[in-house]
Amino acid sequence: MEKNMLFSQVKGLVHGGDYNPDQWLDRPDILAEDIRLMKKAGVNSATLGVFSWSAYEPVEGEFHFEWMEEIIEKLYQNGIYTILATPSGARPAWLDAAYPEAMRVDSQGLREHHGRRHNHCMSSPAFREKVSIIDRKLAERFGSHPGVLMYHISNELSGECYCPLCAKRFQEYLAEKFENDIEKLNHAWWTSFWSHHYNSFEQIEPPFQNGETSVMGLNLEWKRFTTWNMNDFMKHEISVLRSVTPDIPVTTNFMQLFEGLDYRKMAPELDAISWDNYPPFHNDGEPLAETLAETAFHHAVMRGLKRGKPFMMMESTPSLVNWHTFNKLKRPGVHMLSCMQAVACGSDTVQYFQWRKGRGSYEQYHGAVLDHIGTDDTRVFREVAEVGEAMRKLAPVAGTLVKARAALLFDWDNRYAIRDVRALADETKKYEDTCIGIWKQFLKLGVEMDVVGSDEDLSQYDLVIAPMLYMLQPGTAENLKRFVERGGQLMATYFTGYVDRDQLCFLGGFPGDGLAELFGIVSEEIDTYYPSDRNHICFEDGRAWEVTDYAEILQVKDAWVLARYAEDFYAGTAALTCREYGRGKAYYMAARVKPEEMESLFVQLLTEAKIPVRRLPDGVECHVRTGEEGTYAFYLNGNSGKVEIEGAEGMDLLTGTKIQGTFTLPGYGAAVLSQG
Ligand code: GAL
Repeated sequence: MEKNMLFSQVKGLVHGGDYNPDQWLDRPDILAEDIRLMKKAGVNSATLGVFSWSAYEPVEGEFHFEWMEEIIEKLYQNGIYTILATPSGARPAWLDAAYPEAMRVDSQGLREHHGRRHNHCMSSPAFREKVSIIDRKLAERFGSHPGVLMYHISNELSGECYCPLCAKRFQEYLAEKFENDIEKLNHAWWTSFWSHHYNSFEQIEPPFQNGETSVMGLNLEWKRFTTWNMNDFMKHEISVLRSVTPDIPVTTNFMQLFEGLDYRKMAPELDAISWDNYPPFHNDGEPLAETLAETAFHHAVMRGLKRGKPFMMMESTPSLVNWHTFNKLKRPGVHMLSCMQAVACGSDTVQYFQWRKGRGSYEQYHGAVLDHIGTDDTRVFREVAEVGEAMRKLAPVAGTLVKARAALLFDWDNRYAIRDVRALADETKKYEDTCIGIWKQFLKLGVEMDVVGSDEDLSQYDLVIAPMLYMLQPGTAENLKRFVERGGQLMATYFTGYVDRDQLCFLGGFPGDGLAELFGIVSEEIDTYYPSDRNHICFEDGRAWEVTDYAEILQVKDAWVLARYAEDFYAGTAALTCREYGRGKAYYMAARVKPEEMESLFVQLLTEAKIPVRRLPDGVECHVRTGEEGTYAFYLNGNSGKVEIEGAEGMDLLTGTKIQGTFTLPGYGAAVLSQG
C-alpha cells in the first residue's frame, strides 16, 4: 500500500459528496433509495452534517443525534464511509436571538441580521463556546464509529467582521506583533505621512470603509489578522475534536484562489488539503481546454499547500451550478474529464455538492447526482456512475504523488500588496492572471509545475518562475540566491522586490534585499502603458515580442542583455537580462509580454534546467503520478474532437488497452496509462 494514502480504511480513491439526509427525514423511502443508488454509482463516502446544526440542536441545549447515528450506521453497513462535518457553517436562529454578538458587523460598522451562512463573528466567545459544545458532542457520539473517516471543519471559511470584539482582538494582535511598541508600528506603516501617527494601539481601528483605508500597512495587517483570527477559530474547533478523538484526520474545504484567507497559513493545521472546484466550463469567452488548464493551475495551488500528500476535491458539480452568471450544463463527457483531471493533478477524491437536490430554498436548482426526477435513469446519474467505475479502476493511483521539478512562486501577501498599491493601473495589474498565464504555457510544453510560496524550500526544483514578486518576505531573497547558487534556473519579472513585508520600499534600487546583485541589474523606472500603448523587445536573432501594460527601465550592472526595447525614449536599453550566479542563472524579464510569445525563452530555461519539453496536441494535458508501486500518466483531451497522441506507453487502466506509440483520445476523452 502506498505510504501517502489519505485513509487506511479506503483501499483506493474516494468517490462521494455532500449528503443532506436531514432534509429528508420524513421520507424513509428516499433515504433507503439514496443508499441503493449510491452503491450503484460507485459512491464510497458521504460528507454529512455540513449544515445540520438546527437538526442536531433545534433549541439551545436540546440535542438529537439519533437520526445521524442511524444514517452513519446504514451507510457503513453498505460500504460507504462518512466524512463528518462540524456544523459551524450556519447558525440556528435561536443562537443569534440569544447571542447577537455572533452576527457579523460589516465594514460600515453595521451589525448584520440573522440569516444566510458563513457570516459569523469569529471572535465571539459565545459563538465559540456553542461551537465547542456541539463539536465535542459530535466527536463523543460518532468519533469512535468505524465508518467515520475524517472531520470536515465548518464550511468554506471566509469573511471579515468589524465588531468591537474583533477590533479589540486586532489591536491585541498588533501589539503582540510590534512588541508592544507603537513606534515600531508607526515606522513600519510610515504614519508620518499625512500626519497619521498613532499614540497607542487602542487608537487603531480596522479599515472601515468610511474610515482609515489609506495606510497600506493597516490594510495589509487587517488581511493578515483576518487569516490569523480565522485560523485561530479553526484551531479552536480542531482542538475540541482532537481532545476527544486525536486520531481522526481533519480538513476544511478551501475555495480555489479565494483571496480573503492566506491558505498557506492555515494548511499546517490540517491533515489533508481539500477544496471546492467549480470551473465555468463552456463559458462564452474561452475554449474548454483553457478553462481546464486554468483548473489545473488551481489544483496545483492546492497540491502545493501540502507537498508530499494527495489532496481532496471535496466539492464539484456533476452537472451545473446555480450561481454562475449563466448556469450552463456540463456537456456529455466533460464530467468524467474534469474528475480525471482532479485525480491526475494529485487529488485522491472526487466529491460532489451534492448527492440529491433539495426541493426548496436557495440551492434547489444546483446540480446534484440525483435530480428532482428522482431516478437513476438520467444522463447525469449515468455519467456519475461511470466516474464511480473509473475511480474503482484507478484504485492503485491512490497515495501516489505528482512530482514536479519546476515551480511558480505565488504569495497571498503579494496579492494583497499588489491589489492595494497606489501605482501601475488597477485594471491591468492582474497578478493572478499573470501567474496563471505563465503556468499554463509551461503546461502546454508538457511541464508539471508546482505552485509554492516564495519563502518555501526550493531544493527539489531545478526551475523557478517568480512573476511580479513585488513583496519580499524576510528570507525570500536569500532563498532565491541559494536556489540559483546551487544550480537552479530562475526567472523574475518587472515589479520584483520593491517592498519588504511591511510594504516599505527597499532603498538603493529595486529589486531590493540583495536581489539586484543576484540579477545584476537595477530597475530605475517602471512605465505603465495605456491599453492601446505598445512597445517591442528585440533579440539579435530577429525575434521581436510585443510589450503591453508594463515596461521597466533597467540599469545593467553585471548581466548579459538578451533583448532590448525597440521603441520610445528607452529604445535600445535592456529588456531581458541573464546573470550567471554560482552554478545557476538568474533571468530578469523587465516587460509584460504574452506567455505564448515567451515560449522560446521558457524552452531555453527548461533546457538549461534539463527538464524535458514534450509538446502535446493543442488542448491536451498530461500529468504523471508516481509512487512505490507504479507510475501513471494521465492524458486529458480538452477538445471536443479526437486527437492523436504520440510517444505514449502503458496499460490504459480505464479501458484495459495496451498502448505503445500512438493512440487516439476521443473528444473530451481521458486515458490513464499505467507504466509499471
Ligand atoms: C459551495 C458550498 C456548498 C454549496 C456549493 C454550491 O461553495 O460549500 O455548500 O453551496 O457551493 O455550488
